[in-house]
Amino acid sequence: MRNISLLFRSVVKSLILVSVLSMAAASAHAQDAKEGKTLFQQKCTSCHAIDKVVVGPALKDVSKRHEEEWLIKWIRNSQAMVAAGDKQAVALFEGHNNLVMTAFPDLSDDQIKNILTFIDESSQAPAGGETAQGAPGAAAADSGNVSNFMLFGLLAVIVIAFIVIIVLNRVIRTLERIILNKNIVIEEEDEEEGEGKNYFETIKKLAKNKKLVFFFVLGLVAFLGSAGWKTLWNVGVHEGYKPVQPIKFSHQLHAGVNQIECQYCHSGAFKSKNASIPSANVCMNCHKYVTASEKYNGETSPEIQKIYNALDWDGQKYGPNQRPIQWVRIHNLPDFAYFNHSQHVVVAGVECQKCHGPIETMDEVYQYSPLTMKWCVNCHRETEVNHKDNAYYDQLIAAHEKLKEGDKITAASLGGLECGKCHY
Ligand code: HEC
Ligand code: HEC
Ligand code: HEC
Ligand code: HEC
Ligand code: HEC
Ligand code: HEC
Repeated sequence: MRNISLLFRSVVKSLILVSVLSMAAASAHAQDAKEGKTLFQQKCTSCHAIDKVVVGPALKDVSKRHEEEWLIKWIRNSQAMVAAGDKQAVALFEGHNNLVMTAFPDLSDDQIKNILTFIDESSQAPAGGETAQGAPGAAAADSGNVSNFMLFGLLAVIVIAFIVIIVLNRVIRTLERIILNKNIVIEEEDEEEGEGKNYFETIKKLAKNKKLVFFFVLGLVAFLGSAGWKTLWNVGVHEGYKPVQPIKFSHQLHAGVNQIECQYCHSGAFKSKNASIPSANVCMNCHKYVTASEKYNGETSPEIQKIYNALDWDGQKYGPNQRPIQWVRIHNLPDFAYFNHSQHVVVAGVECQKCHGPIETMDEVYQYSPLTMKWCVNCHRETEVNHKDNAYYDQLIAAHEKLKEGDKITAASLGGLECGKCHY
């Protein structure tokens, strides 16, 4: 018995060691891929996906196609390589209708390696996996921070519980053998005929074993706890929300293919708190004439007809029965949180895509970011404010320079973390 418990202890010890080590290794790796993922989403998703062609080719297994050194050079400035006559580069460029890939001179080697790590990892994931497209991937990744850690813990608990069960099973068998040896009984025959019964008896015995029951309950509690915890965190987070709209309006077609500026329809984003949804009159600037009738054998497109119906337009004049189009709102902060578009778009110079994702590639708009407080606060921590040529910031900086020299100014250092800035 002592032997067994000694063995048990050493097994548990080494198990814990191994799991701690592997957790550390995994999180270091995850860190690289995570930074890579963020960069990829910021800089590459407008033209690339992992397993489908967007503007540029699918990047699945790209590091099998080229050397790392070549890739770093390519990503930093592909046109320079084409100009220098690099054979691979020229072939790639000409193979893609001479489309020019943006240069990224300010990406460091490490940053590019992180992006490549992320691409490699996503290449291994099954096709259509979470990381390939925008929103659902981001959803899984953000909650992944918490859940990865919990998952490791959970796995460790389950593995330990398993080992305990195996060890205890051994103990029980040994004990049984000892008992049997003592009174070498005729009962052996009974046992053989009652296989099923015997099995049931073992379970009964196992259920009486306190250690085993304890670990089983512990495992169950850990599992239910982490599942519940995760669910609670995601209450009210509508990342990936993509309602069906009353008219099949496509941003991909309007903002992407036809390159209509966001400002044309969402002028509010540059002037006020709300970005605002355009009224049907704005659509009529074009759709008085654009009926897409070539696609419908000369008839007006049924989707565009819906605009006409809303405005009671008969092709000549507007009638009296006008009513607004009832777009379904997608992004919606709770009433107690204050968010101002012009402050972010004009003052901070943040691109729409940073918060709303690659809208110009979306056929139907979905919520790209989680819009949680953590999301706002993290960006305020990370984003450096452009404070040049701004009298207000000049004063602030002058004041700050007296206190600390050469410190970077983030939104947080200007009070962007004060509760009253975002809450009424
Ligand atoms: C403006 C669109 C655009 C952006 C943004 C862009 N790419 Fe590209 N990329 C292309 C095109 C187009 C090609 C095909 C080659 C060509 O025409 O120059 C390409 C090719 C590549 C290739 C070679 C693929 C192969 O199959 O050999 C890699 C690697 C690559 N891009 C990585 C990136 C990374 C990483 C980023 C983000 C940091 C990025 N690209 C951003 C358009 C883009
Ligand atoms: C031709 C007009 C038009 C243009 C151009 C346009 N949008 Fe929109 N946008 C709309 C309409 C109409 C809706 C409401 C229907 C929908 O959600 O698809 C909308 C909805 C949205 C929403 C979701 C609003 C919500 O309910 O939460 C976002 C975000 C958005 N647009 C961002 C953009 C960005 C970013 C651009 C530029 C890349 C852009 N839009 C260009 C007309 C336009
Ligand atoms: C600046 C011009 C412009 C504006 C403004 C505009 N559109 Fe369009 N829209 C187009 C063009 C161009 C097409 C492509 C027509 C084609 O495929 O023949 C189009 C296509 C469409 C289609 C697809 C028709 C079909 O069946 O293929 C719908 C639906 C549509 N627009 C709705 C809207 C709505 C709703 C608004 C207002 C929020 C709007 N558009 C504003 C230019 C515009
Ligand atoms: C810093 C992040 C951020 C940036 C940048 C941003 N938005 Fe938004 N957007 C939001 C948030 C948060 C909401 C939800 C606002 C609310 O519910 O009060 C939103 C809501 C919207 C809506 C829904 C209607 C409304 O006004 O609430 C539209 C349309 C929209 N954004 C378009 C745009 C466009 C176009 C741009 C670029 C010119 C842009 N956004 C830039 C975060 C951002
Ligand atoms: C993409 C990054 C980013 C995200 C996401 C973001 N912000 Fe900001 N925010 C900024 C920057 C940068 C500034 C500083 C603008 C300036 O004054 O130059 C700022 C400023 C502000 C301010 C003004 C702070 C002050 O000191 O006056 C408020 C309020 C604010 N943000 C609210 C929010 C809320 C609420 C959210 C989430 C719904 C959010 N922001 C998400 C980047 C972001
Ligand atoms: C940069 C903007 C920002 C700042 C600064 C900020 N909040 Fe928030 N806060 C939000 C947003 C956005 C939400 C809504 C998030 C959601 O619905 O998940 C929120 C939600 C909350 C909630 C409700 C939580 C919930 O789960 O419903 C509380 C409580 C709260 N904030 C307290 C604070 C306190 C206290 C501070 C100051 C220490 C603070 N906030 C600073 C943006 C901010």
